[in-house]
Amino acid sequence: MDDADGSSDNPWWQRGVIYQIYPRSFGDSDGDGIGDLEGIRRRLDHLAWLGVDALWLSPIYRSPMADFGYDIADYCDVDPIFGSLADFDRLLAKAHARDLKVVLDWVPNHTSDQHPWFQASRSSRDNPKRDWYVWRDEINNWTQAFRDGPAWTGDVATRAHYLHLFLPEQPDLNWANPEVRAAMHDVLRFWLDRGVDGFRADVVHLIGKDPDLPDDPPEVLGTSRVDRHHAPETFDLLRGIRQVLEEYPGERMMVGEINLSDHELIAAYYGGGSQLNLAFNFVPLHASWEAAEWRTVITDIARAYEPAGAWPTWVLSNHDQVRHRSRYGGSEARARAAALLLLTLRGTPFLYAGEELGQEDAAVPPSRQVDPGGRDGCRAPIPWDPAPPHGWATSEPSQPSEPSQPSQPWLPWPPEPDRRNAERLAEEPASVLHLYRRLLATRRACPALHSGELELLAAPDGVLAYLRRWGGQRRAVLVNFTDQPVALGDFAADSGHGGWVVDLASDGRGEGRPLGCHLGSNQAVLLR
Ligand code: GLC
Repeated sequence: MDDADGSSDNPWWQRGVIYQIYPRSFGDSDGDGIGDLEGIRRRLDHLAWLGVDALWLSPIYRSPMADFGYDIADYCDVDPIFGSLADFDRLLAKAHARDLKVVLDWVPNHTSDQHPWFQASRSSRDNPKRDWYVWRDEINNWTQAFRDGPAWTGDVATRAHYLHLFLPEQPDLNWANPEVRAAMHDVLRFWLDRGVDGFRADVVHLIGKDPDLPDDPPEVLGTSRVDRHHAPETFDLLRGIRQVLEEYPGERMMVGEINLSDHELIAAYYGGGSQLNLAFNFVPLHASWEAAEWRTVITDIARAYEPAGAWPTWVLSNHDQVRHRSRYGGSEARARAAALLLLTLRGTPFLYAGEELGQEDAAVPPSRQVDPGGRDGCRAPIPWDPAPPHGWATSEPSQPSEPSQPSQPWLPWPPEPDRRNAERLAEEPASVLHLYRRLLATRRACPALHSGELELLAAPDGVLAYLRRWGGQRRAVLVNFTDQPVALGDFAADSGHGGWVVDLASDGRGEGRPLGCHLGSNQAVLLR
């Protein structure tokens, strides 16, 4: 067992770890209580110190914010809430100077109803942009996300209905129209020319549509069955998008949000290397804290992805879901074990800003709820230091004699901001923040972890065990998903690789010592 293994040529988006920033909630530089690009730029040292490879920004474009930026009115400009194109260029330059890649969100399925394309499209039946959206006289039975009701809104001016799989303020683009494809490809070029390293493509599995728009079968109506909108028309569109990325030098990347539940179908969106570079697989994000369930998910994903030549992704939290620490019952021990799991599986991990601080969802009272999809809790602001306003800018006093006021961010703080903040946790070597940092450094230095094979190992009930291997380098991971200590029995002998030493433990216990005969409750260990 030695580490003389050579390193891997896998592209950065396979080896690396991508960190999602929700710009409204990361850092505020101007005191309006809403995060902005300059606020992100000032915090880049946190990301470089933490040791991630790339940051992905949720939408920063001009938007009326009906869906907080996922309704875009101009794909080629920054919303004034977030700053300007010049601010973006400064952020990109500083990120690149710190060896951080930058990935932008791209929302291809729909625009804002305020986008000039839609304004033109809705203005008359013979407008040249009429066919850029999906208009029908007769509607089908599709329903919209977030609210009850049809995915169609009638427009008085032209007495027809337009399709919107999300809010009425988010009309679906018609990707069957070649002008739409060309315009959306040009959006990618606009940002690639500025130097971005890739895109996260929002609900990109929805862009292709069966031209007949057939009714949903009755059994999926009114359910949250996401698979119903898979249409093979999307694959061809993804090949066209991939070609745009390949016009550019360097390893530009696209990760697609493929909100489906069938692993084989998700793997098909990689197109054997001709479509997406990566696809989110959200099945594990819905798995409970249970060893057997994780074992099944890992097995099923490997079985579906390996023949397809697809590289998996792993996500525990994002801006649409209750944070994993909250989902797993709030325990810090579980959140730590989950971090060790996330950063040692085979595939690209995505971190969601704040998880490195052990953040949980904020309790948002009804008077402060703002999201039509009820997702405010996971979007709470990041606390940077112990005292209010926790590193967020204060608003300018209206009279020079008045003191400046701590600003009230757009959403309430998450639990215990005085303790769970970046400054305080950086001072505590045993904190969850340092655990993430150590895991990231260990992963980066270890090809078995960032590029190697994964083999599941036999383990006692309630424990997940796997081996990672690259050349002669081996690592093993054990995760105890139960609230009791578990006896490991003959694990070391059975796994055929005796002499395991604890390299890293989620609770710090036993590091540098031979693996003992028990795992602590909700403890995870990385062994060498
Ligand atoms: C994606 C985004 C979500 C948004 C939706 C519509 O699921 O992650 O935040 O509301 O698409 O754009």
